[in-house]
Formats: sequence, structure tokens, C-alpha cells
Amino acid sequence: MTKSTYADFYRRSIEEPDAFWAEQAQLIDWQRPFDTVCDNSNPPFSRWFVGGTTNLCHNAVDRHVATRPDDNALICVSSETDEERVYSFRELHAEVQCMAAVLQSLGVQQGDRVLIYMPMIAQAAFAMLACARIGAVHSVVFGGFASGSLASRIDNAQPTVIVSADAGSRSGKVLPYKPLLDEAIRLAAHQPAAVLMVNRGLAEMGMQAGRDHSFEALRAIHIHTVVPCVWLDSTAISYTLYTSGTTGLPKGVQRDTGGYAVALAASMQHIFGVSPANAAGQTYFATSDIGWVVGHSYIVYGPLIAGMATIMYEGLPTRPDAGVWWTLVEKYQVSVMFSAPTAVRVLKKQDPKFLKAHDLSSLRALYLAGEPLDEPTASWISSALGKPIIDNYWQTETGWPILTIANGVEPKPSKFGSPGVPMYGYKVKLLDETTGQELAGANQKGVLVIDGPLPPGCMQTVWRDDARFAAAYWSSIPGQQVYNTFDWGIRDEDGYYYILGRTDDVINVAGHRLGTREIEESISGHSNVAEVAVVGVADSLKGQVAMAFVVAKDAAGLELPANALKLEGDIMKVVDTSLGAVARPSRVFFVNALPKTRSGKMLRRAIQAVCEQRDPGDLTTMEDPAALQQIKDLLKPV
Ligand code: PRX
Repeated sequence: MTKSTYADFYRRSIEEPDAFWAEQAQLIDWQRPFDTVCDNSNPPFSRWFVGGTTNLCHNAVDRHVATRPDDNALICVSSETDEERVYSFRELHAEVQCMAAVLQSLGVQQGDRVLIYMPMIAQAAFAMLACARIGAVHSVVFGGFASGSLASRIDNAQPTVIVSADAGSRSGKVLPYKPLLDEAIRLAAHQPAAVLMVNRGLAEMGMQAGRDHSFEALRAIHIHTVVPCVWLDSTAISYTLYTSGTTGLPKGVQRDTGGYAVALAASMQHIFGVSPANAAGQTYFATSDIGWVVGHSYIVYGPLIAGMATIMYEGLPTRPDAGVWWTLVEKYQVSVMFSAPTAVRVLKKQDPKFLKAHDLSSLRALYLAGEPLDEPTASWISSALGKPIIDNYWQTETGWPILTIANGVEPKPSKFGSPGVPMYGYKVKLLDETTGQELAGANQKGVLVIDGPLPPGCMQTVWRDDARFAAAYWSSIPGQQVYNTFDWGIRDEDGYYYILGRTDDVINVAGHRLGTREIEESISGHSNVAEVAVVGVADSLKGQVAMAFVVAKDAAGLELPANALKLEGDIMKVVDTSLGAVARPSRVFFVNALPKTRSGKMLRRAIQAVCEQRDPGDLTTMEDPAALQQIKDLLKPV
């Protein structure tokens, strides 16, 4: 296709979307061609490439086996267990077919859900690709989540099979998964037909006869089994991935097959600069986890669809030393790297010699996403690496960047602090929070929304809850059907956007998206908690941390620091065991009352402002000013 400026490219995606996306669709293989590019006859439920059949696993694996069987495909590195294993496309093909056969032997059929609760090991990617191969719907749950979170996801996904492993490892500490999984299955109403356990030899698994199966034993039977790809409707569900929203109940973001494959293939070319012509010999290194959307799009599917090798890394950026990532860049000739600002802030505290000690000439750019990238962090890593730093803004819901710089179309300068400009296919607008009026001028803060239909690759709906999809995302602005990102944004004179945080109760801790309501519900599970408010507070390392303010049922003795500390510790333990340490608040403070409006609405934004030493704004509707004052006093440095 003819490429000109990004402005032309973008304009065409908006003005002639069918022609534009039909061209992009040529980046993947179709078994049967589609007859409709986008069916938006029932908004907000848009359907992409209707009538076409394809398969994500075919596009990620099989088509490359045909041309480049011995090229690197999946590179698994654990700095925790000191293991390193490279799978070629041919080997990956065999392992994925084997996993598909194993899943089928356990009863998994097309359309069934398979819940994947795993550390960053090769079998997790095999399981995802195997599901895609046979048309099963995978639902990966982040390994850092504990029994309560896992149980609610099991009940929502109703998996036929759960795939897990004996343990993960973090900072040299073995984290057994099986006890958490057993407890989650005990808590859940839905019971899976089978549990498939990968044994890394790290922890006891306590296999339950009849239900639990050894992956290694089944692999030995199925390692040579041929399992062809099932050709799926473009609109068939490929996966669900839970994410936090305003209520305590996580939403299952549901994704299609064809639209997702096209969106990823297009993003690999236009955003990450990897085209079918230059993919061979290139390696992508995303430091995220398969439990998050970045792991789905840019550890597993995106790079493989593009035909490049991808690194799956288990471990910290600082172990055995702060050079570990750069060792991998050098060793595997990484050309594209993707991480989160928090990781960069962690590296910034380390000796800069680790960055200088490696040949990073293969690296073209570092992409950062998941949370705001502050200017000092961007400048530091930019000069330390001497490479372009490309901020990109998106969400679990969209699956690929909404705002960034499409250097594969036309190189453009980045502006530190801004993720960039709207990507092709996204009709981004800023609206006034109260009136819903579009803010057409520059430098006005508004809610970032997107006009429908969303481009391919974005969520189809909330799993089993169309009403929630329509209500939560598309009806929040009175009188308009627009997709709400729930982020504040601002646009400068050059059309670059800046993201100013969430408009709802979602917080972002070290790039991990968490719902304050979920944490509040978990804390309420402690017998001495009458009421609780959790807010996200700015943190120089993690971006944000959660802070909890609790009204105790029995506050007697809490004025003694030792007692308060004990209760704080107990409450943190409740969060650890129900949600996981990832959601643990950094502090729990005990208060007499929580600030609320006269109608009983919790003033979370005011609490947050006070925690961040900002002006809490208009408090005329506040019922009890003393409550906010007490929080102010508690936070005063002593
Ligand atoms: O608030 C925005 C923030 O993270 C949210 C989405 O998180 P998640 O669903 O986990 O998806 C992450 C995909 C990269 C957004 O609503 N966010 C994400 N990227 C950025 C960001 N905030 C500022 N700048 C970014 N680049």
C-alpha cells in the first residue's frame, strides 16, 4: 500500500475505514475471506471481518513453520531458576499441538473455557496458543492473585480445565501456586472437570486423584500428536481477561479472533516497525506478565504473528544484577523492547554501569506503557540507552495502543510526558466531565472518549454481560454513545495528548491495574472492620500505591501504636490471602469516621487529594469536616 504522512494514514483510517482495514487484513492468513469489514448495525457491539475464518495460532505459529521452521520463536528465560530454553517455530508447533491434544484428552472442546493460572514458563504460552488452535477460550489469571480473586474468576469463566504449575518464584523465593488454586476451587461454586499441573520441581503439588493430572505424564503420550488448527469465525471469542473497574466485580474483557489478529499484525508493522519483510532474525522483549494484556498482545500473540522471536522472562530486572535485561538484549539481538515506567524507575536507582556494559546496537526503541511516564524517568532512560523511548497509552479493553507514535508509518518526535497522538482507527475526543461537550480547543482537561465503532482488536463485550458492557463503557456520558476510557486527558496545540489519571476508582500500582473497590471488599472481610475507604496515592517509584482508611468496629486500644500496628498487619494479611500481595495497601490508617457527602457518598477524591497534599476542592456537600481533618492530621510528617 502507499504510505505517505501519518496524518494521511490516520485520516484514511477514519474516512475510509472499510478500505483501510481490508488492506490491513492482508497482513494475516484467512482460510475463508470475509465479506463484511465492519458490521456496526447493532452498536456498541461491532463485529469485524464478518464471514471470514482464520486462526490466531495458525497466524502465530503454523504459517512461519512453513517458511522458517528453525528460526527462534519462543525464548524462555528465568533468572529465578537459571533456566533458559529456546524453541524454534518447529518446536513450538510441536509443543502447542501436544498441549492441544492434552487439553482435548481432558475434555476441552471448541468454545470451552480454559483458565490459565501460571508463572512465566513456556507451558503458559503453549496453553494459550493451544486454546487458540482448537477454538477454546483462554482466561489467564495473573499468578500474583490469590484464592479469593481466583475463585471469583473461576466462577465467572466456568472453565472446563484449569492449567497451573507447582510454583512461581520471585527474588529467589518459591511461591507455591497449588495451595492457592486448591483453596480457590474450594471457594468457587463452579468445579472444573480437570486440573492440569506442570511440575517445575519447585514445590509440592498435592495432586487430587481423579481431578488433577500431570502435564509431564500426558505430554509423554501426546508429544507427537497432530492437532490441526480449527478454522474459526473471525468473530469467535479468542479469550477473556479480567480487569478492574468501578465495582468490586472484575470484568471479563472478551476479545474476538480475526479483528485481534489483524490489529496486532498492523500494530507490529506501523507502531513497532516489524513487517513481514524484516521480521526474520528480530527479537521482541516485553517484560510484562502473561496475566496482563501486554503479555497477551506483546509477549505471546503480536511478535509471533509478525514472525519474530519473543522473550518470556521470569524474574526481576535487578537479579542477579541490574544488567540482566541488557544481557538478554545483547544475547538475543533484541530489536524491540517493551516495559513499564516503574521498572525504569527501579533501574534508575541502580549503578548506571550495568547499562553501559552491553552491546545494545540491535535495540531500535524502548516502548513504555501501563502508567504515566514522567518526564524525568523518560529523559533518564533515553540518555542512558541512547535510543528512542516510546510511550504508549492503552487499556486491557483495547488490546493495542490508543495513543502513541506510529514510527513505522512516519517517524515523528516523541514529547516526553505525552504518549503521543491517536492511533489509526481511534476517533479520540476529550469531553467536559459535567456537560459532556467536546473540548475542541487545546490545553483543556477532559474525559478521554472514543467514538464507535472501536477499531479491530478492541473488546467485543463483557463476557456474558452485554448489558454491563453497554452500561459501563458506552452510557456514562448522558445523551451520547461514546466509549469512555475513564482517563483524564489533555491535548496540546500539536495534537499530542497527555494522560492525567483515572476518572474512576481504578488505581495503577507499578503498572498493575487494581480496583479500589475490590481492595475495600477484601478489607471488609476482617472481623474488626466497620467501614473502609481505599484510595490510590502518588508514589515516586510505583506510580501509585493503595492506602486504606478504616473505621474499626472495636477501636478500644487502637490509640496504642502497637495495637494499631497489629491490626494493620492483620488487615494486610487478609488482602494478601484473598487478593494477593499485589493488592496489599502500603498503609492502613484507623479513623473515627470517613469523609462523606450529606447523601452518604464517600469522598474518595478528597481523601486522595489530602494524601497527596493537594487541595481537596469543593467540600460544601461534606457531612463531617472533622473526618477529613483527622486524615490530614494522621498524614502529617512526625
Ligand atoms: O489509566 C490508564 C493507564 O492504565 C490504564 C489501563 O491499564 P490496563 O488495562 O492494565 O492496560 C495497560 C495496557 C498498557 C489506562 O486506563 N495507562 C496505560 N498506559 C498509560 C497509562 N497512563 C498513562 N500513560 C500511559 N502510557
